[in-house]
Amino acid sequence: MRTHYCGQLRSEHIGKTVTLCGWVDRRRDHGGVIFLDLRDRSGIGQVVSDPERTPDSYELAGSLRNEYVVKITGRVSQRPPESLNPKLPTGEVEIYAEQIELLNAVRKQLPFQVSTAEPEPVREELRLKYRYLDLRRERMSQNLQLRHQVIQAMRRFLEDQEGFIEVETPILTRSTPEGARDYLVPSRVNPGEWFALPQSPQLFKQLLMVSGLDRYYQIARCFRDEDLRADRQPEFTQLDMEMSFLDQEAILQMNEALVCHVLKTVKDVDLPQPFPRLTYTEAMDRYGTDKPDTRYGLELVDVSDLMKTSGFKVFSGAVAAGGLVKVLPIPGGNETISNVRIKPGGDLFKVASEAGAKGLAYIRVRADQAIDTIGAIKDNLTAEQTAALLERTQASEGCLLLFAAGPTDVVNPTLDRLRQAIAQEMELIDATKTHLLWVTDFPMFEWNANEKRLEALHHPFTAPHPDDLDDLKTARAQAYDLVYNGYEVGGGSLRIYQPEVQQQVFETIGMSPEEAKEKFDFLLEAFEYGAPPHGGIAYGLDRLVMLLAGEDSIRDAIAFPKTQQARCLLTNAPSPVDKKQLKELHVSSTHKPKGEKK
Ligand code: AMO
Repeated sequence: MRTHYCGQLRSEHIGKTVTLCGWVDRRRDHGGVIFLDLRDRSGIGQVVSDPERTPDSYELAGSLRNEYVVKITGRVSQRPPESLNPKLPTGEVEIYAEQIELLNAVRKQLPFQVSTAEPEPVREELRLKYRYLDLRRERMSQNLQLRHQVIQAMRRFLEDQEGFIEVETPILTRSTPEGARDYLVPSRVNPGEWFALPQSPQLFKQLLMVSGLDRYYQIARCFRDEDLRADRQPEFTQLDMEMSFLDQEAILQMNEALVCHVLKTVKDVDLPQPFPRLTYTEAMDRYGTDKPDTRYGLELVDVSDLMKTSGFKVFSGAVAAGGLVKVLPIPGGNETISNVRIKPGGDLFKVASEAGAKGLAYIRVRADQAIDTIGAIKDNLTAEQTAALLERTQASEGCLLLFAAGPTDVVNPTLDRLRQAIAQEMELIDATKTHLLWVTDFPMFEWNANEKRLEALHHPFTAPHPDDLDDLKTARAQAYDLVYNGYEVGGGSLRIYQPEVQQQVFETIGMSPEEAKEKFDFLLEAFEYGAPPHGGIAYGLDRLVMLLAGEDSIRDAIAFPKTQQARCLLTNAPSPVDKKQLKELHVSSTHKPKGEKK
């Protein structure tokens, strides 16, 4: 049908007769000469028709409208100097349309302009409802092609260089322990029983190691019923990997090579190796988060030891209660950040209070290391404390010190959010930078205050650090995350392969042997038959593509995403189903639509 894609034509094609197929992006009529921008997934080529040179196509060319589907045959010519378009890869040439065939017309009013030649904002709901039209547009078409290239590069590296084998694991399965809620599927043939959709292929990939597969990977669909954010979807894709007989160092090095290969292939970026590493403790100390954006400074400073004897009770009280006092020093902040913004009602106060902070103390550093703050702080600081504070924070004239005091799990998120907001406002983030780093040595467990028990930070199959086996409660895990410009793009760990250690971990999270058997019997039993030492990692593919595409929303990296309310606006899923269908599934709904009596 066609000889070339529209976006492929260059001056080397001049003189050739070509056939193109595509959509009319725009038609322009310039004093009897008709210009058609013809679009396909590769880009746009300019087609020309006029009564003298192309009499056979002229009439039809004039009747074409935006988004009509056509096939055009013609000769590639050099554009005259006045119509050269250096912005377009095909901008040196045009095609004289000897023949045009109309393959299909548009029969309805378009919900928005598909052409982005004169860009206009389109509401996201409309883009999602008419996603097939949105995907015709350059931005989304490019994003999907980039996604394909990323997956292709991953496959080439894993299969051709490292001997990984792709295995598909079940979608209808049992609950997998990643900590989110499950999507459940009722079984018609097994009344009253349910499948869970996998939150990840975690258990199956470990079983594949017991099977001796040695190196497994999968482009795996995962399902998690959790609250959505700009970087989360209920259904998302992982590059999932597991490998046997490698230690943590070897796994990290192989994964650095993988990530470097992907970035070089799709972006021509050379990343410096080895990637920087931070332990979890260092990351929390310096940035207040386990996924720091290190493209800019603004590091946090712990001043708990200086403030524990302060007469300012907010500070000393926080330390006495086992919490922290930390500072975010903002050089030049005195000029850009007013008191109004820090005090109740201000935007920065709001950022802090959303993270749980009750207030935001501040000190402004003036000339000659003088300080300016509220009386309650100033009057309670000795000259020594002030000098030590300024030295520790390296604050000089113009610097604003923002303080958070309280429990660690409030102080860190507060300053993390403020740090990000201020970096953005002060334009400290260089968007051309690609910062990748490993965060390692996560704690094995965190305290679940609601359930009053420890729970696994990653999942309960993560191996503890060999030096920390004496006290599992506070042990570090052999777990690692890959952080890309402040986003967690991957995470994994070495796994437990000795049943005794697994038993201890279950005990630590308060899981009885009966419960463990009920949930994971098949895995625990498999481990009795010769499990190799193994470990792995999974990357959030959608998140990675979002970052590589320079997008802010994960939805722009997925062909058919869900909204923040976990709905598909295109198909209108989820939707009610027939009573008959529910009956066959042995299910009835307790939900009463609004207005109906309970
Ligand atoms: P984890 O739960 O950390 O690990 O997930 C791995 C990566 O998947 C991405 N991700 C998501 N992306 C989009 N939407 C979501 N709702 C979502 N949740 C997670 C993140 C994350 O880093 N089985 C383990 C991996 C292992 O231990 O090997 C796991 O799933 O980028």
